[in-house]
Amino acid sequence: MLRALVMLQNGALEGRRVLLLGDDDSVSIAIGLLGRSLGHDDLTRGVVVADVDDRFLSFISAAAKKEQIRIDTVHHDLRDPLPDALTDSFDTIETDPPYTFEGARLFLARGREALSLEGSGVCFFSFAQWPAPQMLELQELFVAFGWAIRNVWPNFNRYAGATVLGNAGQLIELHRGKVVASDLPTWSGPLYTADVNPRSRAYICAECGAQLVLGQNRTPDTIEALKAVGCPVCSGRAFHRQAGRG
Ligand SMILES: C[S@@+](CC[C@H](N)C(=O)[O-])C[C@H]1O[C@@H](n2cnc3c(N)ncnc32)[C@H](O)[C@@H]1O
Repeated sequence: MLRALVMLQNGALEGRRVLLLGDDDSVSIAIGLLGRSLGHDDLTRGVVVADVDDRFLSFISAAAKKEQIRIDTVHHDLRDPLPDALTDSFDTIETDPPYTFEGARLFLARGREALSLEGSGVCFFSFAQWPAPQMLELQELFVAFGWAIRNVWPNFNRYAGATVLGNAGQLIELHRGKVVASDLPTWSGPLYTADVNPRSRAYICAECGAQLVLGQNRTPDTIEALKAVGCPVCSGRAFHRQAGRG
């Protein structure tokens, strides 16, 4: 809701066509509820969510139906270029990409494809608080994509328990300074934090202390699957991420 309010305050919602690239934080619902609380039938000129995960899309659609707010959802893997219907069609992008350089690059590239070539173009970009050398690389990426940084809110997004990624992330407001051609083909390289940082794949069983690495030695690929089958040593179902590995 705070993210939606900041977007409203900075002119990124009213009368704008808004695309959310991934929306597990349900910012689309916050935008809809905000518009309704301000007495608008349609504060924006349309809110679209593109996400690869049908669970989030179903949740958002069901909530939108219940609250009688208009949100369009599109199943799309952002590793692939945007479909024509989403290309060159939006004024505002909102995204919380994977907190890796590759994730930032991919989601920024798709955001650029989605923006209408006319008008200014704004992107609300949530990201981890990286140390200065990596922040410099991220800022070089913004420049390469033609974005100027308008505002940075440190520690704006707070995630209880997200110790590997950092509990708090920054919100960055980007404005398009110039149109840069976009032609990132399908991306098949590493993308997510776990692809890039193996430490986030190592877990300790809370019951017996067994060390388990997702995807290795017949340990399932995801923590959800590991919890479902239980620890191979003691069948316990609680796990902590292993600190300091990798
Ligand atoms: C990228 S995740 C947030 C990740 C978090 N910042 C991190 O580094 O772990 C935010 C949203 O993007 C969606 N998402 C992730 N990968 C995607 C992809 N390849 N295409 C479309 N949406 C994707 C997720 O389903 C989720 O709703």
